[in-house]
Amino acid sequence: MSDNDHEAATTTPEQQTHSSRRVNALAQRIGARHYLEIGVSTGRTFRTVEMAERVGVDPRFLFDTDAVANAATRLHAMTSDRFFAEAAGTAPFDIVFIDGLHVFEQVVRDLTNTLAWTGWRSAILIDDTIPNDVFSALPSQRDALRLRKESGGKSNAWHGDVFKIAFLIHDFFPFLDYRTIVGSGNPQTLAWRAASPMRKPVFDSLERISRLTWFDLKAHDAVLRRASEQEAIDLCAQAIEARQGAAS
Ligand SMILES: C[S@@+](CC[C@H](N)C(=O)[O-])C[C@H]1O[C@@H](n2cnc3c(N)ncnc32)[C@H](O)[C@@H]1O
Repeated sequence: MSDNDHEAATTTPEQQTHSSRRVNALAQRIGARHYLEIGVSTGRTFRTVEMAERVGVDPRFLFDTDAVANAATRLHAMTSDRFFAEAAGTAPFDIVFIDGLHVFEQVVRDLTNTLAWTGWRSAILIDDTIPNDVFSALPSQRDALRLRKESGGKSNAWHGDVFKIAFLIHDFFPFLDYRTIVGSGNPQTLAWRAASPMRKPVFDSLERISRLTWFDLKAHDAVLRRASEQEAIDLCAQAIEARQGAAS
């Protein structure tokens, strides 16, 4: 066993990000083994995820991937679109963390591809689903930073228009249950397959959802289905555990 093989098992709670803390807690509950992270960057989250097999995808990794990759940890230097088209293999993922390009159209593709590569016992975590201000919600990072600066703001935060994905799931993916985790780090939306009570679409229009603004989000905040980290993980794990019990 090489040093690389030990990496996933030796992280401390202090080393974990809020994302890997959530992924690891969920993985333990549902016995997840196969992880995919879309958008890895420096690997702060990826490298502290404790699962048997880890796959990372990023067109521009900001660390030495050769020092981390091994038989159980695969890193693909390519876009998520290319990964799903050419390199995703056939084994379904148990947990997918979507944190690549923070533009709605890309997140729609990442989520729909993820749905094809996950199953009824999988969980999907989507990053940056609550922008912190009107600028942060703009699809262009350059516009967001420029316009905020012109208005006297100092922050460099940019969430993009990922928040629209909650509206898409709410109105068009009735087979997914979801909660948006708030109050313990960057908000993220956790989704899982579930037969749940029928939801009445809010907009019922793909075109309308694609044009939503931060003000629309404010007016329809309930669509996010806010929950604490523990509550969201519990609900997701309970739905998956019930299925595991039924299958055994
Ligand atoms: C916010 S960072 C990821 C942070 C990381 N998940 C973490 O928690 O430490 C976003 C990353 O997405 C990558 N990215 C941009 N476009 C992408 C695409 N089309 N497919 C996959 N990754 C992409 C960027 O290169 C960047 O490294």
